Amino acid sequence: PRSARPEPHGDVSVAGVSLTEAADRFGTPLYLLDEQEVRERCRAYRTAFPDADILYAAKAFLCRAMAHWIQEEGLGLDVCSAGELALAVTTGFPPEKIVLHGNAKSPEDLSTALRLGVGRIVVDSTSEITRLAALTPPGTRQPVMVRVTPGIAAGGHTKIRTGTDDQKFGLSLTDGSAQHAVTRILDQPHLELVGLHCHIGSQVTTLKPYVAAVRRMVGLMARIRDQHGITLPQLNIGGGHAIAYRPGEESLNVGVLAGRVRAELEDGCARTGLPVPRLTLEPGRAIVGPAGVAVYRVLAVKRTAGRTFVAVDGGMSDNPRPALYGVRYAPRLIGRPSSTPPRLATVVGRHCEAGDILADEVALPGDVRPGDLLAVPAAGAYHLSMASGYNLVGRPPVVAVSNGIARVLVRRESLDDMSRRDIGL
Ligand code: LLP
Repeated sequence: PRSARPEPHGDVSVAGVSLTEAADRFGTPLYLLDEQEVRERCRAYRTAFPDADILYAAKAFLCRAMAHWIQEEGLGLDVCSAGELALAVTTGFPPEKIVLHGNAKSPEDLSTALRLGVGRIVVDSTSEITRLAALTPPGTRQPVMVRVTPGIAAGGHTKIRTGTDDQKFGLSLTDGSAQHAVTRILDQPHLELVGLHCHIGSQVTTLKPYVAAVRRMVGLMARIRDQHGITLPQLNIGGGHAIAYRPGEESLNVGVLAGRVRAELEDGCARTGLPVPRLTLEPGRAIVGPAGVAVYRVLAVKRTAGRTFVAVDGGMSDNPRPALYGVRYAPRLIGRPSSTPPRLATVVGRHCEAGDILADEVALPGDVRPGDLLAVPAAGAYHLSMASGYNLVGRPPVVAVSNGIARVLVRRESLDDMSRRDIGL
């Protein structure tokens, strides 16, 4: 987090809260979230895109407090399940500012969305159009968008590239399925087509794919106007803006993105004679990722086969990202000074797999020993939201830090929590 400060004796504070004290008080592994940073990141989007709707992508991390901050900062929400939707709405989030996504929405997802009155449903397949139309109550019209794959490859890993045709998301612009879906929706009296959506990928580090996506989507809007005589009022260009995970890595600059996207949108609309649609963005990682830090305690250090393994009390159950995407993190020793020269070490988790590696071959002081604390920056997005119950170790708590005060948002998962759903013999 931006508020991270070195303190005496090798300690580090975040938002004025000592990480060592937090680890002692709340136990480890522990996730801390800098509330002000989340709020500032929301404001940065609103400043960069004053005329756009900004939706926070809840899949990055959601809890009641997070939903509350997002609402207070004037953002809407992107959800992809009845679960995320219900959590937000029961926290008081206005349903009309929520958008439902998903390539395979369950009957429960769709009926919950209709019952609670979400602002938009982003249709992801032709069969969904028929299913949704059949569920829409008589006398109502559900606003929908079409998720389009514009045929653009962007994103930090193949598993998170969603703008190409050859994967499960969206309807292809290239082969005409997107236009076909538009025609189908226009035939449904209970559905109101308000615009198009695309999300090209995640952890996208450059601007070019966004500019290309806007160009292609505007082209499609113009073709829809020519074919059906309608001008769609909205364009949602998804999220995916990269953050830095390690010192020296670049994040995508939101201000520069805003300028380029706006320029391309205005150019494209001028070229095709379309009115400029209202823009929507759906950042997840860039809102919450850098605001989070994970704190682990070292349980064992082992030197073998010329390598040093530093084992901590969490691992792939609270952060599956290195195992899934090969992402590299930069853990650091906190809580005591060390003048021992750094040595390459592999930080591993406590799970029953050799692949449970949190950080492969990273520089750590040579004297790292059991009892030490390691902090992992940029841990706010897609860690706990992707956490699993593997080995029944219990998910870590989330503690908000702000102005020197720490408060638990989500408590640690207990053995009781884990066994509660097991109904016995
Ligand atoms: N909108 C849609 C429709 C999405 O599918 C996503 C992410 C977002 C917005 C937000 O993307 P963001 O701004 O957070 O990059 N688990 C992976 C990331 C998966 C992203 C899925 N969709 C990871 O840990 O890198």
